[in-house]
Amino acid sequence: MRGHWTRWSHRWLSLVFTATVIANFLARALIAGEPPAWLTYAPLPPLFLQLFTGLYLFALPYTRKGRRAAQA
Ligand code: HEM
Repeated sequence: MRGHWTRWSHRWLSLVFTATVIANFLARALIAGEPPAWLTYAPLPPLFLQLFTGLYLFALPYTRKGRRAAQA
């Protein structure tokens, strides 16, 4: 399958991750004092999921399943 769900989730998680990082920069630029802890740590859950989907995508070309998908 070319559009594998891990590639799809990795792509969309990258947008969620980027949005949370931008929100952190904005909060620190615009609001006086330390931003709330939930905002500071908001990039971590999507980044954590990206680590696993990313490692899977890395391994895919080395598996029989991934090579079959690349030929198709
Ligand atoms: C956390 C560890 C991460 C690992 C191990 C990882 C690994 C990978 C791998 C192996 C690929 C596939 C490359 C290919 O063969 O085509 C990929 C694609 C990609 N990665 Fe990551 N990545 C990580 C984090 C991120 C982050 C933080 C972002 C952006 C904020 C990101 C954005 C993307 C995008 C946009 C693609 C292309 C997806 C597509 O083909 O549609 N990744 N990543």
